[in-house]
Amino acid sequence: MATHDTPPQPALFVEDQPTRRDVLLIGAAGFAAVGAAAVLWPLLDQMNPDASTLSMATTEVDLAPVEKGQALTVMWRGKPVFIRYRTDKEITEAKDVPVEELIDPLARNANLPDNAEATDANRAAREPWLVMIGICTHLGCIPKGQAVGDYRGEFGGWFCPCHGSQYDTAGRVRIGPAPQNLAIPPYAFESDTKIKIG
Ligand code: FES
Repeated sequence: MATHDTPPQPALFVEDQPTRRDVLLIGAAGFAAVGAAAVLWPLLDQMNPDASTLSMATTEVDLAPVEKGQALTVMWRGKPVFIRYRTDKEITEAKDVPVEELIDPLARNANLPDNAEATDANRAAREPWLVMIGICTHLGCIPKGQAVGDYRGEFGGWFCPCHGSQYDTAGRVRIGPAPQNLAIPPYAFESDTKIKIG
């Protein structure tokens, strides 16, 4: 169960891969589509009824209920944030990719300098957790890969069906037209099982 010091948090979804999906709703309901399908971001943005959510500076997330292989989507400043408890295989695959092979060689991590390289260590500060803003860097769709049964693309990460961009298990774009890796928001671990985003 997530804990929050700045209520209300609109919704928190636990995606169990591949056999179970738990949906935990905290605060306002009605956001069940997040993570379940690629949706044009402007459309989803219009669906967000909670102005207090948009102004929320920080979001605390309890990671304790999340098990290996599960994905979690939370909202921060009106944006979906993808959190994945990556498997050993996913981490190994991400580490094995030479930075020079990447479309975008930069980490795009708000917690690091702008010129930080897109190594797995620079994308996922603390293994096995990967925390990213779930908005495609092409035209702003929400990539698939969080919900049960989602096609995750050739690289096992996220797939944006709008125009076919694919992201790997470190959230780095591997097939365009998306020009950049999924952005990593400012966040920090407050304990082994709790992060604060923002
Ligand atoms: Fe994702 Fe176009 S918005 S590929």
